[in-house]
Amino acid sequence: MSTVLITGGAGFIGSNLVRSIAHAGQHRVVVFDALTYAGNLENLAGCIDGSAVSFVHGNILDADLVHRTMELHRIDAVIHLAAESHVDRSIASAAPFVETNVAGTLIMLEAMRTFGVSRFVHVSTDEVYGSLEPTDAPFTERSPINPTSPYAASKAASDLLVLSFVRTHGVDAVITRCSNNYGPYQFPEKFIPLMTLNALEKRPLPVYGDGKQIRDWIHVDDHCSGLLFALEKGRSGEVYNFGGAAERKNLAVVNEIVQLTGADPALITHGTDRKAHDRRYAIDATKAHNELGWTPMWSFEEGLKYTVEWYKAHPEWCGHVRSGEYRSYYEQHYKTSL
Ligand code: NAD
Ligand code: DAU
Repeated sequence: MSTVLITGGAGFIGSNLVRSIAHAGQHRVVVFDALTYAGNLENLAGCIDGSAVSFVHGNILDADLVHRTMELHRIDAVIHLAAESHVDRSIASAAPFVETNVAGTLIMLEAMRTFGVSRFVHVSTDEVYGSLEPTDAPFTERSPINPTSPYAASKAASDLLVLSFVRTHGVDAVITRCSNNYGPYQFPEKFIPLMTLNALEKRPLPVYGDGKQIRDWIHVDDHCSGLLFALEKGRSGEVYNFGGAAERKNLAVVNEIVQLTGADPALITHGTDRKAHDRRYAIDATKAHNELGWTPMWSFEEGLKYTVEWYKAHPEWCGHVRSGEYRSYYEQHYKTSL
């Protein structure tokens, strides 16, 4: 059985991935996470047992700890998700994005080289391609890199570093670029959980600008299955796009959430637009389909309905995230036992 190090495994996508790997039982997992504001060990409640799934509280900028973890746990493969991930925060302050997303990825690459890790899956984003016009064809892996926000620029820089390590040092790495995820355990600074929780709490639903921006939504389970296909079957040095084939205008998504929650449509407000707001993302995932055998399973309508139901059914998780209590979960439940 191989051991996979999952950086950022206490975040939204990482925790869904850890759960799905633990459920399948094919790999041992070591979660490596700094527990920034976006990391929440409650996302992994009932999952960490110190054997099939272990947890290391650490920052990827701490090269010594990364090295010790790889050595101690005899890591075979890395799925690298740890990142600063929110565009609005990168507009407010870009430095943490360069530190974690660029310098942190470099530390991970150096460590995998030193310890002969056999595969590195670098989890990137469709935002590196920039924005599409309404009639443009969806992004393919050959679309030019043209990032808009500091977040997207930092992810693009990390992608190029990964490719440079494949070419220069011959490490084995694949890059994945996925569109907008939604699903359980997503921190409510992102569009769908923010709108869902606000709707359930009868608070305003703050749409940026005209709300006609388009995102290609994918259920997090489908992204996670793509990452596992990339781990098993991806070719080193290649990029694979994943998308949900579900382009929707932001306003249409808010309206669906209003319907699913029974909220008052008058809660929808139009505020100041995001700076340099990308107008449209759309993904052509033909390569992942043909080479990896990957296909998304969720329709957006079913996925969104299930997701809204999940937030309704988990008032404790939502309450802890809203109040900030989630930040002490690690001290309360794990710190002394691991
Ligand atoms: P998230 O913000 O929910 O989670 C990020 C996790 O990384 C958190 O647990 C956080 O504590 C951890 N982290 C941050 N800085 C760290 C550091 N220096 N050292 C160790 N851990 C650190 O993010 P997410 O939405 O789950 O995204 C995960 C990855 O997937 C990111 O790389 C992101 O760029 C990429 N991605 C996200 C989406 C999306 O729609 N959310 C789409 C495509 C790609
Ligand atoms: O495309 C993949 C990317 O998707 C990931 O790489 C990022 O990590 C992830 O955060 C996401 O980026 P976006 O900027 O597209 O997601 P966000 O949820 O922040 O916003 C989605 C859309 O909704 C976007 O057009 C901005 C708009 N929006 C967002 C918020 C938070 C609003 O209108 N109001 C809001 O309050």
